[in-house]
Amino acid sequence: METVTVGGRMHPSERLMVALDYPDHDSALIVARSLVGVCKWMKVGLELYTSSGPRIIEGLRELGFSIFIDLKLLEIPNSVSGAVQAAARVGASMVTIHASGGPRMIEAAVSAAASYKLQILAVTVPTSMGKEDLTAVGISREPLDQVILLAKLATSIGVGGIVCSPNESAAVRNEILDSILLVVPGIRPKLYQADDQTRISTATEAIRSGADHLVVGRPITRHSNPKQMALQFQIEIAQAEAMHHMGWIVGSDPKPG
Ligand code: C5P
Repeated sequence: METVTVGGRMHPSERLMVALDYPDHDSALIVARSLVGVCKWMKVGLELYTSSGPRIIEGLRELGFSIFIDLKLLEIPNSVSGAVQAAARVGASMVTIHASGGPRMIEAAVSAAASYKLQILAVTVPTSMGKEDLTAVGISREPLDQVILLAKLATSIGVGGIVCSPNESAAVRNEILDSILLVVPGIRPKLYQADDQTRISTATEAIRSGADHLVVGRPITRHSNPKQMALQFQIEIAQAEAMHHMGWIVGSDPKPG
């Protein structure tokens, strides 16, 4: 799909990333086909990649999609370097690593990606982990402080983006350069069920908090009409962006600032 960038900014179809969380290749491709020409990015996670392998990436690329492969790598630097190069060779444009793998692992990922058109995204603290979980693994910091620490570490080493939850995105955006991508999952339409996500927000809130890409799974993939839902999200993104750029007051009712 040809992508459109308006006035140097991303088009809503580029901002939206659809999480194809399916157990097999064929189910994932059915939904992907219905989104050809509507979205640019498909996110392939551990379940789909483990069951389908590089074939699913090839199939999605043939349909014209760019691929975000969400492997959340955490290994010794040599293994991460090999996995990043393999992700580039199968045709991914973005891949995730865990920032908690430390500076040498992050450096290995960034170096491995450098000769490819592949961006490294760092995940910080999994959103499923609260303060007690961090304490249990020997980290006494508050979760948000740990998120910020890891985001700063990863960006100082040269990752292209940070993945974080909507309730962390404003704080993370304040700490990192505007040129670094902020990728935010946990997006729901207003009045939609939360599923198993505990930290969710609307697309409007995510854009206001500085998100570049919004990852949406079930609200689109489990809807009877995924294309219609994807378009609805894009309308909401476009409206939020318009309000943002017109200088309307963040967090208030829309009115000229
Ligand atoms: O279906 P739903 O919209 O909840 O999908 C969210 C997607 O975002 C899933 O693929 C999940 O792996 C991913 N994700 C997340 N929370 C994070 C990081 C990634 O939900 N902190």
